[in-house]
Amino acid sequence: MRIIYQEETKIFHLCNDAVSYIMMVLPNGHLGQLYFGRRVNTDKDYSYLLEMMSRPMASYLWSDAKRFSLEHIKQEYGVYGTTDFRRPAIEILQGNGSRIVDFRFKDFSITDGKPVLEGLPATYTEAPEEAMTLTLFLEDEVTGICLELLYTIFETGPIARSAKIVNGGEEPVHLLTAMSLCMDLPDYDYEWVQFSGAWARERHVKVRKLEQGIQAVDSMRGHSSHEHNPFIVLKRFGTDEALGEAIGFSLIYSGNFLAQAEVDTHNTTRVLLGIHPSGFDWKLEPGESFQTPEAVMVYSREGLGGMSRIFHNLYRKRLARGYWRDRVRPILNNNWEATYFDFTEERLINLAKKAKECGVELFVLDDGWFGQRSHERAGLGDWVANPERLPGGIEGIAEKIEALGMKFGLWFEPEMVNKDSDLYREHPDWVIETPGRHSSHGRFQYVLDFSRKEVVDEIYGMMEKILGGAKVSYVKWDMNRSITECYSHALPADRQGEVFHRYILGVYDLYERLTSHFPKVLFESCASGGGRFDPGILYYAPQGWASDDSDAVERLKIQYGTSFCYPISSIGSHVSVVPNHQVFRNTPLHTRANVAYFGTFGYELDLNKLSEKELQQVKQQVEFMKKYREVLQFGDFYRLCSPFEGNVTIWMVVNEERTLAIVGWYRILGGANQPYTRVRLQGLREETRYEIEGREGYYFGDELMNLGLITTDYTAGEEAVGDSYAGDFDSKIFLIRAIDD
Ligand code: DGJ
Repeated sequence: MRIIYQEETKIFHLCNDAVSYIMMVLPNGHLGQLYFGRRVNTDKDYSYLLEMMSRPMASYLWSDAKRFSLEHIKQEYGVYGTTDFRRPAIEILQGNGSRIVDFRFKDFSITDGKPVLEGLPATYTEAPEEAMTLTLFLEDEVTGICLELLYTIFETGPIARSAKIVNGGEEPVHLLTAMSLCMDLPDYDYEWVQFSGAWARERHVKVRKLEQGIQAVDSMRGHSSHEHNPFIVLKRFGTDEALGEAIGFSLIYSGNFLAQAEVDTHNTTRVLLGIHPSGFDWKLEPGESFQTPEAVMVYSREGLGGMSRIFHNLYRKRLARGYWRDRVRPILNNNWEATYFDFTEERLINLAKKAKECGVELFVLDDGWFGQRSHERAGLGDWVANPERLPGGIEGIAEKIEALGMKFGLWFEPEMVNKDSDLYREHPDWVIETPGRHSSHGRFQYVLDFSRKEVVDEIYGMMEKILGGAKVSYVKWDMNRSITECYSHALPADRQGEVFHRYILGVYDLYERLTSHFPKVLFESCASGGGRFDPGILYYAPQGWASDDSDAVERLKIQYGTSFCYPISSIGSHVSVVPNHQVFRNTPLHTRANVAYFGTFGYELDLNKLSEKELQQVKQQVEFMKKYREVLQFGDFYRLCSPFEGNVTIWMVVNEERTLAIVGWYRILGGANQPYTRVRLQGLREETRYEIEGREGYYFGDELMNLGLITTDYTAGEEAVGDSYAGDFDSKIFLIRAIDD
């Protein structure tokens, strides 16, 4: 890993064993992008990559030159309005109404490791030799505004980028756009991959060819959203899971975002990623600075799978933090789908007893334990236990659960308030709403103005009291609506464009305070399921409820799509009841578990309602998960067969030593007289002999990876006999162990 600066050519070359990132200072002092891709020789002058021809109809920067137009140059952090007409990385409204800026290179610094981004989630290093950081200092002389562009290259492959804008001038300005990343690629021969959907069908994989014009995904809902994820991939045609080029762009942020690719008429592709410029307006007084969130780029030549494993490794080990980062996650039973709001302490204890009998380790009490919250219309904001439901308070029920030999977990929705609550009656102005205008609700709740410190302080105080006063080992942090009529009663008119971002900073602040005060409490994020499943939240909560849709078939797509960027240890996945509450489908219990194993694993049902036979199955599932969760949650993940492409989904994990692999095989509809089938595995050692549980003999790694594992079953012959399952929604787990060391 190196960062090289060539004085004569003014070229910066960042490289590790896998990639090179090359840029140069352009003749006008701006920064030009020369190359990002597989590592190339560092002893080379690449300035010839800056091509400047005289072109008809171009606008040139200097009156005496017909060869320098930003319109045709690939840049690092493009500005609009001065010969470049593409969407800009930065836009600043100045006192005289102008938005023209001219950031010129002044200086640079190279340091080991990676600096902390104040108040923002970001990747980090634990030892300086894990990464190097290049900071480029640029200045706009007319306004005195300085721009600092940060590039951290990790030994393991990824490049993290962010920008800091410092108002070194004498008048306030308004920052209207400040992207985390701008990257001009020399062609557009890519397919664009996005991860989109809606509530209960999040992060579905959508692929299309890049075309001239703008393609984008975004959120303007105040959270990263169910609809789109702050993550896109550009892949070459033909790139598959194992081979070919792919570049992933991920934003470590939980609020409004924009991820965009603009292909111009000369076939260059400009990627922009950062806070959504629409509605954003940050006033920067002289001396103040603004730090953008961090974006991470991963280049892979080993297909989409290779890209995902680099993201998994980085986000699992150098984004997620704390006590739970490297620990297997407790198997839990959550009462939500078992009881909804209809519970008493006695009923909860009965649920927990059965869970304990099955080997479950953590019992989670969901919504409805506080204030007047026996339905959706009241209580949010009053984080005090309801004595009618919980006579001994949280302390009492937590003690009882602990006495059963389990840990106790609790649900909160800290950012929200019902108008029917003591908190709202006391502080009606703490809600985000626009004066004189209609105020929309979502599920009868309103969003607290987390851009205000006193609001965050108050919620912190209530949560600290509960968590400090009882044995609570886990918190489920929910967030069940988008922000509308965005306005803060505490900010002046010219700062209202800051509310969305300040809100998210408030969320991060509360997370930071709680996770540092209660370092051993496991936090799971949730936003009506997957409405805020992003890397920003992963910094605080190492796992997130991936979707409110717990149907096993739906989950195949959701978890498959989620795995492109996010590690398996972060994917909250439970076995729920049938008929499923979201799609009313009946799937067999073994398939529900076989899907949920590839995540944090737990149960979202009343185990008392299962038959004796089903309970035996649950006990075996819990035992299986305890035995294999280390590899399931922290192993290398490979996608083998996509649920978006056919009737069968297959994925697998392999441990670090490559001595243990677990393959999950899922078929939606059964059938008669089907073909013989095999799947080629990945990630095994070629020369090692493996055994497959339940099968005779041994198989070499190269055999399983090239000839494949036979997955043929009863559908290719006679009907199943006896106890074996024969029908739709079938699945199997293959356990593959090395015989040789
Ligand atoms: C939405 C969550 O996703 C559910 O799991 C549950 O916690 C409910 N909110 C409770 O209101």
